[in-house]
Amino acid sequence: MSSALSHWLSFNSWWLLLPFVMLLVVAAFIVAFVLLLYMISPLISPKPLKLNGAHVVVTGGSSGIGKWIAMECYKHGAFITLVARDEHKLVQAKKEVEKCAINDKQVCISLRDIYIYIYIYIYMYAQEKLGPVDMLVNCAGMSISGKFEEVEVDRFKKLMEVNYLGSVYPTRAVVTTMKERRMGRIMFVSSQAGQIGLFGYTAYSPSKFALRGLAEALQMEMKPYNIYVTVAYPPDTDTPGFAEENKTKPLETRLISETSGVCQPEQVAKVVVKDAVQGNFTSSFGPDGYMLSALTCGMSPVTSITEGLQQIVTMGLFRTIALFYLGSFDSIVRRCMIQREQSKAADKRE
Ligand SMILES: NC(=O)c1ccc[n+]([C@@H]2O[C@H](COP(=O)([O-])OP(=O)(O)OC[C@H]3O[C@@H](n4cnc5c(N)ncnc54)[C@H](OP(=O)(O)O)[C@@H]3O)[C@@H](O)[C@H]2O)c1
Repeated sequence: MSSALSHWLSFNSWWLLLPFVMLLVVAAFIVAFVLLLYMISPLISPKPLKLNGAHVVVTGGSSGIGKWIAMECYKHGAFITLVARDEHKLVQAKKEVEKCAINDKQVCISLRDIYIYIYIYIYMYAQEKLGPVDMLVNCAGMSISGKFEEVEVDRFKKLMEVNYLGSVYPTRAVVTTMKERRMGRIMFVSSQAGQIGLFGYTAYSPSKFALRGLAEALQMEMKPYNIYVTVAYPPDTDTPGFAEENKTKPLETRLISETSGVCQPEQVAKVVVKDAVQGNFTSSFGPDGYMLSALTCGMSPVTSITEGLQQIVTMGLFRTIALFYLGSFDSIVRRCMIQREQSKAADKRE
C-alpha cells in the first residue's frame, strides 16, 4: 500500500514539476541564444580601422574635443590634418598633438580656413600632402543658447552654417576617394542636445539633430563601400567652447545641465575615437549617454547584434526613467518662471 502511494506521489510530483522544468529549459535556451549572438556579433561587425599610418582630418582640431580627438589618434600612430580658423590656436594645437607622437614618421599639418573653402583645401592640399583621407572627424562647431524669442534670427542661420554645412562640405571632399578605395570612416560630432531638445537650445539643437539625418542617409549610401559613419553625442564637456557658452546660458538651461556632470575632453575623445575605429554608428558617453542613445535609436543603423539586443531589452525601462527626467526638467522651468514673475511683481510694488 505504502509503496503504491509513494509511487503515485513520485509520478504526480513529476507532473507538478514539469512547468518549472520547461521554464528552466526555455530560460537556458534564451541564455544560450543570447550568448551565441554575443559570440558571433564581432564576426558581422565592421572590421576595425587601423589608425597606425592612417590619415585623419579633424575639423575644429585646434581646441577642445577636436584637439583631444587629434591627440588620441596621434597616440595610435595616425597622420593628422587639423582644420580651424585661428592661426595662433592652430599652431599651439599642432605642438600639443606632435608631443603625442609614437614614432618619428608621424606628421601633423594644419589648415587655416573658413568652413566653405575647407572642401577645396582638404581635397587639394591635405590629400596631396598626407595621402587619401582614411578618417574624417567633423568637429568644428559652436553653441549659442538663449530663449527662442531672444536669439537673433541670423544666429539660427549661423549655427546651421557652422554645425551642419560645416560638416557637409568636408564630407563631400573625402567621400569620392573613400568610395574608390572602398574604405573610410566619417565622424559627425553632434551633442546630447542633438538627441533631446532642451530649454535654451532652439537654435543649437536643430543644427545637431540635422547631423543625425545626414549621417543616417549617408550611412545607407556608404555601407556597400565599406565606409562607416559615426555620430558622436558628447555630454557637457570642459572645453573653451563650453566655457564661452556658459557666459550666456539661461538659468533654466544651466539648472537642467547641472542634473548631469561635466566630462573631460580627453575621456570623450577616447570613447568617440574607439567607436569610430570600430565603425559604430552611435557614440555616446556615460550612463546618461547610453540611455539617451538607446532611447533615440529609432531606425538608425546597428553595427552589432549586441547593440540591437540591448536596445530591444532596455527600451521600456529607459522610457520610464526618461519620463521622470522630463518631469523634473519641466518643474525646473516652471519654478524659474514663478520666481521671475514673483521678483517682477516685487519690483513693481517697490
Ligand atoms: N563642449 C561641450 O560641452 C560639447 C558638448 C556636445 C557637443 N559639443 C560639440 O563638440 C564640438 C567641439 O566643441 P568644443 O566644446 O570642443 O568647442 P571649442 O573648444 O570652441 O572648439 C571648437 C573648434 O571648432 C573650430 N571652429 C569653430 N567655428 C568654426 C568655423 N566656422 N569654421 C571652422 N572651424 C571652426 C574652432 O577653431 P576656430 O575658432 O579657430 O575656427 C575650434 O577648433 C562642437 O561641434 C560642439 O558643438 C561640445
